[in-house]
Amino acid sequence: MVDLSVRIGSLVLPNPVLVASGTFGCGEEMSELIDLRRLGGIVLKGTTLDPREGNPTPRIVETPSGMLNAIGLQNVGIDRTLSEKVPFVKRFGIPAIINISGRTVDEYVEMARRIDACSDADAIEVNVSCPNINKGGLAFGTDPAVLGDVTARVRAATAKPVITKLSPNVTDIARMARAAEEAGADAVSLVNTFVGMVINTRTRLPVLANRTGGLSGPAIRPIAVFMTWQAAKAVKIPVIGMGGIQGLDDALQFFIAGASALQVGTANFYNPHVSVDLAAQLKHYAKEHGLATLSDLRGDF
Ligand SMILES: Cc1cc2nc3c(=O)[nH]c(=O)nc-3n(C[C@H](O)[C@H](O)[C@H](O)COP(=O)(O)O)c2cc1C
Repeated sequence: MVDLSVRIGSLVLPNPVLVASGTFGCGEEMSELIDLRRLGGIVLKGTTLDPREGNPTPRIVETPSGMLNAIGLQNVGIDRTLSEKVPFVKRFGIPAIINISGRTVDEYVEMARRIDACSDADAIEVNVSCPNINKGGLAFGTDPAVLGDVTARVRAATAKPVITKLSPNVTDIARMARAAEEAGADAVSLVNTFVGMVINTRTRLPVLANRTGGLSGPAIRPIAVFMTWQAAKAVKIPVIGMGGIQGLDDALQFFIAGASALQVGTANFYNPHVSVDLAAQLKHYAKEHGLATLSDLRGDF
């Protein structure tokens, strides 16, 4: 039997394929289409201290091989996420990872405390691609000192595994990964979306009401593979890679670049089976190639 389980701090993922935050809700709709038990885990839709309605529409636009979104963290807030969404995921016996976003470091800390008190929550993913109101709206994830501070304070507020989700909108991703590791993160995940804009040339205005959005999907994959490779060389903690994964070959690229686990995002929208299929394909691949673990795929380059 091939065992593809992956350890993230004290959490053991049954297999390395997670679904990415914001692309799967908490699995309610998807549970009618696929067997959630076959996932490595669900990273829930990003939550905030208070419920949010998100940005005005339009907030999604298709791009070549990708999409640009500015949902604006529409969600029910941390308390309902923990009392309603997490128990739903746990019905399927798979890990529930809570993705959190704050406007201040104190908001992250308060959410981490509440998650710590929730026995069903398995880990925290800290989304640092959010505007920091104490730094003029600059994202937490663009300054290694700020990223280290938010990671360390979340770390101190919980005994659960902490995953820092890196923003790719930086000049040196390795430095950001190191800052998260030094602050006590159990893993880093990357990449979040790239800031972009689409303009309607008839109206001469941005298509998204928010003007800018986050680019995801196959269009970003080569940059995501590159950044995963850079981050994996910089840290000893596990790296969870994502960005445009839609099949086995894409997934293998991330493992060869140094990832220990993966997240599938945008592809869930056009192929709800992609993540469970990928988990099965990886197992088959490992068996066929005599691999005890997918980390053995890691390249020396
Ligand atoms: C519609 C949408 C909503 C997203 N919401 C979140 C979120 O709430 N928190 C977060 O950390 N990332 C969020 N993301 C980013 C994804 O989790 C992922 O990092 C990114 O889309 C890259 O992976 P992909 O190319 O496979 O989609 C969202 C992405 C999309 C497309």
